[in-house]
Amino acid sequence: MKEQLEQIKCHALAALDAADAPAALEELRVKLLGKKGELTAVLKQMGKLSPEERPVMGQIANAVRAEIEKKLEDRKAAIHAAALEAKLAAEAIDVTIPGDSFPVGHQHPMNQVLQQIKDIFVGLGYQVVDGPEIELASYNFTRLNIEEGHPSRDRSDTFYFNDDDSVLLRTQTSPMQIRVMENAKPPICILAPGRVFRKDEADATHSPMFHQIEGLVVDEHITMGDLKGALITMMQKIYGQDATMRFRPHHFPFTEPSCEMDMQCHKCHGTGEIDGQVCSTCHGEGWIELLGAGMVHPEVLRGCGIDPEKYSGFAFGMGLERTAMGRMRINDLRLIFDNDVRFLNQF
Ligand code: DAH
Repeated sequence: MKEQLEQIKCHALAALDAADAPAALEELRVKLLGKKGELTAVLKQMGKLSPEERPVMGQIANAVRAEIEKKLEDRKAAIHAAALEAKLAAEAIDVTIPGDSFPVGHQHPMNQVLQQIKDIFVGLGYQVVDGPEIELASYNFTRLNIEEGHPSRDRSDTFYFNDDDSVLLRTQTSPMQIRVMENAKPPICILAPGRVFRKDEADATHSPMFHQIEGLVVDEHITMGDLKGALITMMQKIYGQDATMRFRPHHFPFTEPSCEMDMQCHKCHGTGEIDGQVCSTCHGEGWIELLGAGMVHPEVLRGCGIDPEKYSGFAFGMGLERTAMGRMRINDLRLIFDNDVRFLNQF
């Protein structure tokens, strides 16, 4: 009987090793351990054994059964793992196959420059603020010291909404100075970019809608030196460290003193000509006008409840399109608004 058990074990282990599918394993399980299986058949003969032999054989039979069961489990796990392996290999993704490509857009060149300017001023401690495009004439003009009858108030220049000319599309971002100052106490340090509107025919340098960026700093002891420092820092970050600026006296009703800032022409380097021809970028000037600026007029401060004896401030207003055109060498303003992707994709 012992030999019989040994034989069953030997055959069983070999057969299990050879089985390579779950169905084959199940078939062997039934054949070996099932009710009508080989092992059961041997155990049924136990009754014929002597009482001394019975426990010994019982022990051996149990050991054989345990070994066969263990082998069954091992093979089951191995076959399962192999099947999984094969499945993974068959379904593997070939990452070297070129994928479907989708056209990916990017920021409009205007927004790229705007973002850069915002980043520069945020780095200098400015807060970026937003305001209405539909504005009161009192904010757009009156409280900025622009008196009745001033040419910029003319109906041929400004889009008004009503007969008494009290509501309009803002012609500049400067009304944001008033909106900020009447609501905040110094220190004030803001940047206000946005759309502005003027009755202009569109041509290479004009558009009825364009963008300005207004800056305003009000605190004790603010001087023209602070203004120059902020503007030169910005320009050199945009145009490079060797960009050369000049400040020219000018007049704006809401600043005193006022100035304009020009940048030396990057094309002709200030000479006004290239190969004996008038430079087309600066029209022979050697300089390109970039922005208006100045020290906030005491009347404007007072009108917003800020004491001009205690506080002073500077303001500046620049055209975003002009800055972007210089920066990106774009020579026609209309290209910026046409939104032809063949043009936009160059930036
Ligand atoms: N708002 C002026 C314009 O549209 C530009 C300007 C000039 C803004 C001087 C300012 C400033 O803040 O101080 O022409």
